[in-house]
Amino acid sequence: MRVIYPGSFDPVTNGHLDIIKRASRLFDEVVVAVLVNKDKKSLFTTEERIEMLKELLYDYSNVTVDNFSGLLVDYTKNNKIDATIRGLRAVSDYESELQMAHLNIGLSDGELETLFLTATPSVSFVSSSAVREIAEFGGDISKLVPYKVAEKTRDKYSRR
Ligand code: PNS
Repeated sequence: MRVIYPGSFDPVTNGHLDIIKRASRLFDEVVVAVLVNKDKKSLFTTEERIEMLKELLYDYSNVTVDNFSGLLVDYTKNNKIDATIRGLRAVSDYESELQMAHLNIGLSDGELETLFLTATPSVSFVSSSAVREIAEFGGDISKLVPYKVAEKTRDKYSRR
């Protein structure tokens, strides 16, 4: 089974990596797809986000990193993807994730299933937005993201 793990990854966190690594054990192929969203102001460029993911996932032979723009269902149709993987951290995630899952199955005429993996408790409170906010105000993000990502995130804010 070939699955996609789509997201903004701005930046990739230990929570994302937990889901990707677990998915790589469950499925034949995992495509990590970074959304190119020109309207949304991101901290890292798409290229930077892809580079960080590729470096971190180098050892996972069935994981590839790509980008997509537009609708997820168009990418999954063109790339023969069987299902989308999303992580659920808490009940609060469920509401928006359920909406997205329903939209995607409708938009794909019943083709694109969404499968949920529950976050590992030790990283279930981590989010990219929290990482950005903590880093912006000089807080410690070293337990939330890999070492190199923490360095690059701190660097971004120190240049602002
Ligand atoms: O990491 P995120 O920001 O929670 O990921 C959200 C993402 C990228 C999976 C979602 O916004 C998405 O798939 N966007 C592409 C546009 C699309 O297909 N929209 C219709 C379904 S919501």
